[in-house]
This record gives sequence, C-alpha cells and structure tokens, in this order.
Amino acid sequence: MSPDLSAFLYLVASVCFIMALRGLSSPTSARQGNLYGMVGMGLAIGTTLFNDAVLSFETILGGLLIGGVIGTLIARKIKMTALPQLVAGFHSLVGLAAVCVAASALYSPDVFGIGGMQGIKISALIEMGLGTAIGAITFTGSIMAFGKLQGFIGSKPLVFKGQHLFNATLLLAIIAAGTWLTIHGTFGAFWVLTALSLLLGILLVLPIGGADMPVIVSMLNSYSGWAACGIGFTLQNNLLIITGALVGSSGAILSYIMCKGMNRSIVNVVLGGFGGDSSSGSGPAASGEAKPVKTGSAEDATFLMKNASSVIIVPGYGMAVAQAQHALKEMVELLKEQGVKVRFAIHPVAGRMPGHMNVLLAEANIPYEDVVELDDINRDFASTDVALVIGANDVTNPAAKTDPKSPIYGMPILDVEKAKTVLFIKRSLSSGYAGVENELFHRDNTMMLFGDAKKMVEQIIKAMEQ
Ligand code: TAP
Repeated sequence: MSPDLSAFLYLVASVCFIMALRGLSSPTSARQGNLYGMVGMGLAIGTTLFNDAVLSFETILGGLLIGGVIGTLIARKIKMTALPQLVAGFHSLVGLAAVCVAASALYSPDVFGIGGMQGIKISALIEMGLGTAIGAITFTGSIMAFGKLQGFIGSKPLVFKGQHLFNATLLLAIIAAGTWLTIHGTFGAFWVLTALSLLLGILLVLPIGGADMPVIVSMLNSYSGWAACGIGFTLQNNLLIITGALVGSSGAILSYIMCKGMNRSIVNVVLGGFGGDSSSGSGPAASGEAKPVKTGSAEDATFLMKNASSVIIVPGYGMAVAQAQHALKEMVELLKEQGVKVRFAIHPVAGRMPGHMNVLLAEANIPYEDVVELDDINRDFASTDVALVIGANDVTNPAAKTDPKSPIYGMPILDVEKAKTVLFIKRSLSSGYAGVENELFHRDNTMMLFGDAKKMVEQIIKAMEQ
C-alpha cells in the first residue's frame, strides 16, 4: 500500500475515533458511537496489515488468534459488575506494551529506524524515556487498581509518614534517570528509569481510598492513552499517536468530571493519599452503640409506594450485582399505572464505573427522561414521599456532609434523607465500597428491606399485583 493511501486511511480512522467519542458522550447516541469506533478500528488494523513494513503475517496472525480467543472468552464470561477491574487490567497491558516497545527499540534501534551503530537519535531517546516512564507507572498503577477493585488489596487508603516527600523524590529520580538515558542512551539508565517508574505506579495508587477509585481508574485510562502515544512515536505510527492522544485527553477530561462530581481536587488525586481512614467515620460502629433499625417487608413497601404521589428510586452497585433493573422496570410500570410519579436519581459515581447505572437502566428500556442526574433532582427529595434506595449506600451517606474525618467527606450525595420515607433494599447493615457506616439506616423515617435486590423487587411486584 502506498504511504499516501495508508496516511489517508489512518486519517479516516482517526475521524471515526473522534466521532466514536462524540457518540459515546450521550446514551442516545452511544450505539452509533460504538459503531464508528468499530469501523475506525477495523480500518486501522486493515491499513496496518497492508503496510509495506509488514514482512510476514505468521506472527501477526498468531497474535491475533491468541488475543482474539482470550478476548472472546473474557467478553463472554465477564460480569457487568467486574468491568472496572477488567478495564484496569487492560490498562496495565497498554503500559506494559509501551515499556516492551521502548526496550526493543533501545536494543535494536536500526530495526525501528531511530539510529544505528553511532547511537540513537536524541529525539527518539526522549520519546522512549517518556513512553517508558508513563507506561511503567500505568502498568503497576493499574495492577494495584485491579487488586483494589477485585478485593485482593483492601480498599482502605494505605498511607505512611512522609509519603508525599518520598513520591516527590522518586519523581525527581525518574527525571534524573530520563535525562541520563537521553544523554548517554545506556541500557542501565533505561532499566533504572523503568524500575523507579514501576515503584511510583504502586505508590501513587496504594494511598487512594475506596470511594476515590473512580477518579484513579479514569486517570490510569488517561495515562494508558499517553503511553500508547509514546509507542506511536517510537514506532513512527501517526494513527497510534492520534489515538493515544485521544484516549489520553478524554481520560483526563473524564477524571476532571469525576473530580468535580466528587468534589475532589485533581492535584490531590494525582499526589494520592487524601481523605481519611475509612475506620474513622462517625456512626454506630464507630461509637460502639447498637442503634435500633426499623425493618419492613415487601408488603410494607408496596403500601407506602402505592399511596405515594411521587417516588424517587436511587440505584447503586447492589442493583447491578442483583441484576434487578428488569424487575425494577416492571415495578415502575405498575406504580405509574396507579398514577404515582416515578423517577430515577443517578449519582455520578454510583456503581463501579462511570455511567454504570445509566447503562443498566437503558438495558431495561427505562425511558431516558425518567433518569435524572444528581444536580437536577437533589432538591426534589424534600417534596418526595418515598425514596427507594436499591443497592446503593455511599452515594446517600450523610457522613459526606457531616464528618470531616470521613474518607467520603466533601463528596456530594443524593439527599434521600429529606424524603418523607426512605426505603433501603440491601442484604444487611454492612457498609458500601468506601467502608463507611451509614447512619441513615437508623433514622426514624428509614425502613430497611433486607434481602437481595432482585428478589425483593419481585416480591414487591407480587404484592402490588395482589
Ligand atoms: P456502595 O456504596 O458500594 O453500596 C452498595 C451496597 O449494595 C452495599 O452496601 C451492599 O450492601 C449492597 N448490595 C450488594 N449486593 C447486593 C444485592 N445482591 N442485593 C441488594 N443489595 C446489595 O455502592 P454505591 O452507593 O453505588 O456507591 C458506589 C461506591 O463505589 C462509591 O464509594 C464509589 O466511589 C465507589 N466506586 C465507584 C466507581 C464508579 S466509577 N462508579 C468505581 C470504583 C469505586 P449489603 O452487602 O448489605 O447487601
């Protein structure tokens, strides 16, 4: 394929990726966005395969086959609730790829066209150093994020004295190693840079508390984009540079949105270790008292909701675990038939990934106009009869407003407590992802409906039909 045609097709693929990002910014256009993404990726792979630099297809086909089989198996087996850790796992591979490509370029510069016996070009060494540092940080950072999200590593922030100073020193050492690599191009400098960056990746994510993981996952998404961009420079592949920059910048924008949604400073997240210890919340466990809890049944919930004029449903991670969205849709239709106004309130970090609740509700064909974001619905709780919280916890926890020591302090919450009655569907009194007790469970206007979210909603439907 001529270089001009290949450059043109890469440009078309890049435009497809931009259209994909644009489509993915709203639930109504998300399908179309995905389609653009697939066309762009097909075009990108096809164009690369017919590049003159490709000498044989055996290794490529072998890689496609192995990767394709693993990818298909994962896609078929993965549960929706485990997607965030899967994404973190995939980011780690992008980081590792960046380090491996840089290492091969350093050991065989002539193959990559970046120099020969007389040494590697300075510009290539700078790109290599940047790509390696970002890639290595992404690799270990993503593995730590995977461990935290999967529960292998506790979600509590792991902090030690002088952490910021240590991280800052490490960053300076990485810059020094990068400079050494750029000036001398030695293998030693490269591996020192890699080792230091791997360590920094671990130290940046370990101090992040559970509730702040969404921001770090999107930050790592951004880092993985910049790492891919670095590979693009080393491989002199324009499409990879553009795609990496798109992923890098969209991930950075998403991190900014998440930080705003959670009322966090992005600088604090990048430095790590903000927020308190999750054991330090106020609440029944912290104070050692066993406070009373009012429990109810599906029939009680049915009575309350049928006699309400408005109900706001707050879905959370537990709804995703129980896959209760379809039953919920049926329940909402029954309530609407009774003339009850029903809406869904969405917190920006409900669930375990951005847009998690929106995706599940869309899957159950719940109309988009019934799904309202936090800022637009929060003031309506005060004039609402029933707030039905289904499998959500942290996103309703008033400790975020009242307890400065709490790791979720400062995060905006859905003000369910202001509703006349609050119904919580969950299996126990246990805390949510951030590990903070929720004192709402013990309030006078709260009724706990203990059980699996889907089963409880099905029982409510049965009671409504009777
Ligand atoms: P959580 O605070 O994690 O609470 C979920 C609740 O669901 C748990 O308390 C659990 O209580 C209940 N639950 C679990 N399985 C259930 C089932 N089968 N049936 C009924 N209830 C069930 O969730 P949230 O309110 O959605 O808040 C999200 C949290 O995750 C935030 O802290 C957020 O920062 C963090 N996070 C979010 C993301 C993104 S991007 N959204 C990514 C990573 C982390 P029981 O065990 O008592 O049932």
